[in-house]
Amino acid sequence: MRESAQTPRASGENRRIILGRSALAEGELEDFIPRLLAYDGQGLGGEMIYVESESGPPFFVDRYELTNEQFAAFVRSDGYDLRRLADVALEHDLTVVTDEAYEYFTYDGSEHFSIGAIPEMRGRVVSCFTFTKTYAMTGWRIGYLHAGAELIPQIKKAHIPLAICAPVVSQYAALAALQGSQDCVADFRAHYQSARDLMCARLDRLDSVFEYSKPSGSYLMFPRIVPDEGRDSTVFCKRLLREARVSTTPGIAFGPTGQGHLRLSFCVPEEEIEKAFDRMEEYLG
Ligand SMILES: Cc1ncc(COP(=O)(O)O)c(C=O)c1O
Repeated sequence: MRESAQTPRASGENRRIILGRSALAEGELEDFIPRLLAYDGQGLGGEMIYVESESGPPFFVDRYELTNEQFAAFVRSDGYDLRRLADVALEHDLTVVTDEAYEYFTYDGSEHFSIGAIPEMRGRVVSCFTFTKTYAMTGWRIGYLHAGAELIPQIKKAHIPLAICAPVVSQYAALAALQGSQDCVADFRAHYQSARDLMCARLDRLDSVFEYSKPSGSYLMFPRIVPDEGRDSTVFCKRLLREARVSTTPGIAFGPTGQGHLRLSFCVPEEEIEKAFDRMEEYLG
């Protein structure tokens, strides 16, 4: 790596090296399934414990496993569940890292609640936010976090080898998003709610193939594939892509407990949802 003038490139290079190595570690590229590396602690010395929620989506904390200092839970963002999670964290002296990407996209009167808002949790929460969803700024790769002041220097130690810094152009774009009219956020929310309702209506027509819970937030769905062919979500997904020409994500990409599910996004124009489901109905129906 060269000196400071090259720093932005060096930052991108670091990430490319990590991506390349992770692909090779998976073995044959043909079989490489992209995973959310950020969540499984790879390279950071952590061990992920996947907790299968007995309730299924929307994932209440109905069970948790705690061994030594490891804890994992997948919860929906409502106050009741997060207060239960806070009790566990306080009892066992844990820090909670949250992903609050969809804080503004909640539906049917449900409201986002941040575990960092619980006074006793002060200093114990690393709350992560992104411009990706709120302002549809995926390509700008910019977000932020909120944590106790003593944690920030430690977080920077991990951030520097991964990204060096947020691109300056993206920092200005984020500033413009914050200072501009916020009407787009309400517009996006209304669009996503309508797209969600459309996707649910289309899934209902395929009820022998998919079981689902209506999401009260985000722009994603995670239906279970009912027929036996769905047990391997990767095989099912590849078939949908090749035969029906519909792109989905296999549930296994989100960890072993996602097996047998598909991840669908309704963050697309409604015509795309109609077209994708027309194709799926023709193929699966
Ligand atoms: C729950 C969740 N968190 C985080 C992200 C990614 O956010 P960012 O674009 O800031 O990396 C996504 C995007 O797909 C997401 O669905």
